[in-house]
Amino acid sequence: MTGGKLQSFGGEWTEQKLGMLDEYLAAYAKVMMNQRFERLYIDAFAGTGYREVASAEPDFGFFAPELAEDEPQKFFDGSASIALRVQPAFHRYLFIERSPKRFAELLKLKGKFPDLADRMEFIQQDANCVLQNLCAGWNSKTMRGVLFLDPSGMQVEWATLEAVARTQAIDVWILFPLGIGVNRLLPRNGRIPDGWRTRLDRVLPGNWYDAFYRQARIEGLFEAEPQTVKTGSLNSIAEYYQEQLRTIFPAVAENPRVLINSRRVPLFLLCFAAGNPSPKAKGAALRIAQHILREGRSWA
Ligand SMILES: C[S@@+](CC[C@H](N)C(=O)[O-])C[C@H]1O[C@@H](n2cnc3c(N)ncnc32)[C@H](O)[C@@H]1O
Repeated sequence: MTGGKLQSFGGEWTEQKLGMLDEYLAAYAKVMMNQRFERLYIDAFAGTGYREVASAEPDFGFFAPELAEDEPQKFFDGSASIALRVQPAFHRYLFIERSPKRFAELLKLKGKFPDLADRMEFIQQDANCVLQNLCAGWNSKTMRGVLFLDPSGMQVEWATLEAVARTQAIDVWILFPLGIGVNRLLPRNGRIPDGWRTRLDRVLPGNWYDAFYRQARIEGLFEAEPQTVKTGSLNSIAEYYQEQLRTIFPAVAENPRVLINSRRVPLFLLCFAAGNPSPKAKGAALRIAQHILREGRSWA
């Protein structure tokens, strides 16, 4: 693996999200293996294929620059490598990554998993664009998919989720930027700059402003004009997003996981939505996802 920092995302919460993805893919592969469908794994924010974590090991108790320079980095599987290790393998893998530098790293997955190389497709573009095109041409009679949406912020457009839901054939894990994005763009006084509003509109459907703000008179100032007050807590923002997901997907896991950083600040909400409306398929997908979200394992 090359040196240099290509990406180093998060700590414990990163392991949680990848652990849950891994478990879901393993269960999905088993449930689907005897069905006639072509199975596709789609990683829309694929990164490099691995994640780099600074090793905690070298603690020499004194300053040793010659050692510090060589401080080892540990490389763990990112979502793309995790998916490639799942057995039985998917029939096709689609990896999307916008950054040219990360994309160049990602391409190396072909060499690392040579047996699966001819099943992999790589696209260096905006994920929303690629997904909306892919879903428009999706053949739900023959294809089933799992989609992992792991953005670093406010990149997943609602229109993309609508396109995914219309296929009725794709299960999706979504990292909703609850604390890292949405809540930060909702100031207490309700005066949201136009640029922020545009970003929020792309990610959140419906009349979110009325859901998160109300007019109230300040106590003791009965003559005063009502003021705009923020009522949208992290909980209510999360519930609003879940409700919106329920309007387009046949089933949505009831227990999304809040991913927090080491300072206990909520960053993302990890949500799951099942694509197939058949009671059997959505029931099975939901049972597996809810179990994973509830239980957690050693990585939780
Ligand atoms: C959180 S990282 C993904 C980590 C990866 N899933 C893993 O497990 O290693 C988000 C990635 O999305 C990429 N990205 C950001 N905006 C994008 C967009 N609009 N379309 C595609 N990729 C994008 C970033 O370059 C970054 O590599």
